[in-house]
Amino acid sequence: MSKQITNCILNKNTTNNPIWLMRQAGRYLPEFREIRKENPNFIKLCLNSDLATEITLQPIRRFDFDGGIIFSDILMLPYGINQEVEFEKGFGPKLKTFQLDKIKNTSEIDFTKKIQQVYKAISKTASNPIMTNKDMIGFVGAPWTILVYMINCSSPKNGLNKNFFDDELLIKETMMIIEKFLKLHIRNQVDAGANIIQIFDSWAGLLDSKIDDYILNPTLNLVEYTKNLGVPVICFPRGIKNYKNFCDIVKPDAVNIDYDVDPIKIVKEIKIPVQGGLDPKILLSDKENLIKSVKHYLNIFKDHPYIFNLGHGILPETKIEMVEEVVKTVREFK
Ligand code: CP3
Repeated sequence: MSKQITNCILNKNTTNNPIWLMRQAGRYLPEFREIRKENPNFIKLCLNSDLATEITLQPIRRFDFDGGIIFSDILMLPYGINQEVEFEKGFGPKLKTFQLDKIKNTSEIDFTKKIQQVYKAISKTASNPIMTNKDMIGFVGAPWTILVYMINCSSPKNGLNKNFFDDELLIKETMMIIEKFLKLHIRNQVDAGANIIQIFDSWAGLLDSKIDDYILNPTLNLVEYTKNLGVPVICFPRGIKNYKNFCDIVKPDAVNIDYDVDPIKIVKEIKIPVQGGLDPKILLSDKENLIKSVKHYLNIFKDHPYIFNLGHGILPETKIEMVEEVVKTVREFK
């Protein structure tokens, strides 16, 4: 058996649906919580290559997913260019006040050295026998989402500050630095053994205007860069108003959809392989409803190259048996 996710993306295979879940390595797993308890510093945990490898493999051992996504975080990028990042329990990420001077002086060598353990974890994971026929998914945050965290210093749950774009020169210069290091981060992951890259634009939905400058063009640059490395790239522009327009311009190899878009409209409009869509909250309901909802997506995409996944990350409250049910439903679907 070959690697199923790349088979779907590159060969447009529709005979079976590969499956993996965003945030599959995480808090809904008791074996993850066990390790997390002993490792209160999240960044340090990401930089412990043995533990990061172990956490990446946990969901694959349990559910036999078709791919492993490296246990790391999109915020390793600001961390790597010297904007300090902390994760506070119950609050989420907290970044130190943004200072252009501090990040401007980071060299590519220093960046790679600082987060070297992430790459080591990728090569350790990829060379584990359990990964032989599995895809090794590396990832980055999209330039826009990284910019938002760096300037806002925490999740912009209540929207962007009115004066976010006031200093446009500063924003432009920061975007250029972000883009440069995202490319390096992608290349390092591919060199270490990642055979797919996913680009998470979690806050794409925050913008109504300036989409060309902050989402489409910078993401297109990363997509072209990744394709030139010979690796397929999946984009997740969460909450973007027009997925078709995004795909026409950015041309990723596959697109992950969120749970607010109508999959029937997507299958009609979008020709490239599609991934995801199911609302992660459905996994908190009952099995009957879950099976119905999973089959709903599988039926809509039955003649389209489709990778089963969610419309956002799996929720920490999710029960193991609900994940088992998803996998079973997808694998048994004819
Ligand atoms: O299993 C996987 O998907 C691989 C690892 C992974 C993590 N974060 C680990 C993590 C991935 C792919 C991410 C991506 C990520 N990180 C995104 C994009 C996807 C999305 O959810 O929109 C974003 C926006 C972040 C930033 C981030 N990291 C936030 C907002 C938080 C706190 C809120 C939350 O969901 O917990 C994190 C922490 C984080 N990243 C955890 C994990 C397992 C939880 C850490 C803990 O144990 O407390």
